[in-house]
Amino acid sequence: MTITKNITVFASGGGSNFIAIHKEILSNNISGNIQLLISNNPGCGAVAYANESGVRTMVINKIRYPSTQDLINVMIRELEKVKTELIILAGYMKLIPNEVIKKYKDRILNIHPALLPSFGGKGYYGKLVHRAVIESGVKTSGVTVHLVDEVYDHGKIIQQVTVPVEKSDTEEILASRVLKAEHKLYPIVVKAFCEDRIEWVNNIPWII
Ligand code: GAR
Repeated sequence: MTITKNITVFASGGGSNFIAIHKEILSNNISGNIQLLISNNPGCGAVAYANESGVRTMVINKIRYPSTQDLINVMIRELEKVKTELIILAGYMKLIPNEVIKKYKDRILNIHPALLPSFGGKGYYGKLVHRAVIESGVKTSGVTVHLVDEVYDHGKIIQQVTVPVEKSDTEEILASRVLKAEHKLYPIVVKAFCEDRIEWVNNIPWII
């Protein structure tokens, strides 16, 4: 399969998922091109990695674009400029504007560090997800990769993997176990997307 896709990544933090996917592309395991990294946070690890590795970066935030409409227009212009075919959210902590979601319907992926639809939605991000998982007493957590729609953490689920919750877990320990699983799962889903191996059955996406 040599179909390839132009990818734009959105990230706000350390960027380890972005790096995991980029490494798979550099090793020719994923037939995609990361053309652009968009971040709201100029000081984050994802931006530093993009700069080091020659990926074009664009900082889009309220400080640079105080008008929401200007911000949305710039985002869409940048996405179009690089002919984006797939958007990957990799620890992006801002809401994606509805205009962008509509324009790239079924072409925006997100990764969530728990088994949606549990432990998702407003307020469930980063360490808070793992705290809620531990406090609930569930014995299994995991990773979800899903399509992004207008409702936070709600889009159709493409793939999930589970990880155990151990009785000695702290938020940090569970987060690091889940993150390791993220680095395996996200490249698998991105690869399938880039090779057009997502099939819709009864309105549900499956990897084939
Ligand atoms: C990851 O654990 C990702 O699942 C989470 O942020 C982290 C980013 O890490 N995303 C969310 O909580 C979204 N709701 P990274 O910057 O090292 O890839």
